[in-house]
Amino acid sequence: MNIAILGLGNFGTAIAACWLRAGHDVAGWTVEDEVFESIESTGMNQKYLDHVSLDGLACTMDIENAIADAEVVVLALPSHVICNFLGDLKPHLREAQVVLNVSKGLGTRDRLMSDVIAENLTNPAAIMVGPTIAPELADGVFSTAIVASREASVADRLAQNLTTDTFLLSVGVDPRGAELWSVFKNVIALTCGLSDGLGAGGDNLKAALFLAGCREATRLLPQLGASPDTFLTPAGLGDVFVTATSAHGRNRSLGEQLGSGASLASAEASSAMVTEGVRASRLLKKLAWADGLSSVYLDDINALLDGALTATACIERLTAATEPKSVGLRVRAETAFPRVANLHR
Ligand SMILES: NC(=O)c1ccc[n+]([C@@H]2O[C@H](COP(=O)([O-])OP(=O)(O)OC[C@H]3O[C@@H](n4cnc5c(N)ncnc54)[C@H](O)[C@@H]3O)[C@@H](O)[C@H]2O)c1
Repeated sequence: MNIAILGLGNFGTAIAACWLRAGHDVAGWTVEDEVFESIESTGMNQKYLDHVSLDGLACTMDIENAIADAEVVVLALPSHVICNFLGDLKPHLREAQVVLNVSKGLGTRDRLMSDVIAENLTNPAAIMVGPTIAPELADGVFSTAIVASREASVADRLAQNLTTDTFLLSVGVDPRGAELWSVFKNVIALTCGLSDGLGAGGDNLKAALFLAGCREATRLLPQLGASPDTFLTPAGLGDVFVTATSAHGRNRSLGEQLGSGASLASAEASSAMVTEGVRASRLLKKLAWADGLSSVYLDDINALLDGALTATACIERLTAATEPKSVGLRVRAETAFPRVANLHR
């Protein structure tokens, strides 16, 4: 296929490398001079993925050039950027071009990205979601994802044509659920990082936090329109697992910093990359409230982000609050995690 990738950060670069290797014609657009110059002079994106060959990539800083011949226009920018960017993109798009969103996050005013895209563009649109950590995808490690669209034929065509030897795309039948999971999983990853940051060495503890998050997501997301079946797909459990446990996961890393006592401001300042889990925690809470739903789980994470709960107190609440039968047995974090509590005295 003829593919234009808009945004050559970690993920845009990784899928460009993957689809170039599979023989597709790929153009990439960036606003960053240093990325453009690096690709032009070395054939690699030294700012984001410095070891990956982008041989054959038509790199440009001109959006019109980038999408001129494309059948598929991939949005590989942070979700909040895409919302403002759609207005700039619209005049350059042709009707038949498919817009494939790979960002994982909510749009402005708490809306799903698919809603934001449908409000701004009339093009056929789809999302691609799954456990696709960028450096691994770029290196050709076997990866899976689903492509979902409100128009099933669009998802079918993309999944068939964009699957490669190492990247298996299947068609998802629940675009809303896939998108909701792609947002919620960043929150779960953030909480799992807390366990790493506390230095308790606790895979068991991480599993408890992972479970608490999955339990809350499987309770809340169907009430927001997700199919319960989407949990057991690459967009659900697959993506949650990789995001919450991979050393590369930036939301898990941010949680790790919060767990080690850093403030949200300093944790965010220390990474050049966007951590969508913070925004997701805030916006999912609003989204739930707007639908008349409440979530103690999201309240607790937001309290942590606001500095109103310590990491240990947050963990105590997350692991207890979603386990109704354990309420009577609930123990204080200092007792349950003595090493953790000691570290923070
Ligand atoms: N990194 C991953 O493993 C991964 C995997 C799947 C999906 N995603 C999703 O892909 C999206 C991009 O993530 P990433 O990892 O590439 O992020 P990144 O921070 O590595 O790169 C962001 C890209 O957006 C560009 N950008 C930022 N602000 C811009 C603006 N105002 N105008 C134009 N370009 C702008 C940057 O130049 C950069 O190319 C995110 O929504 C993320 O959730 C990431």
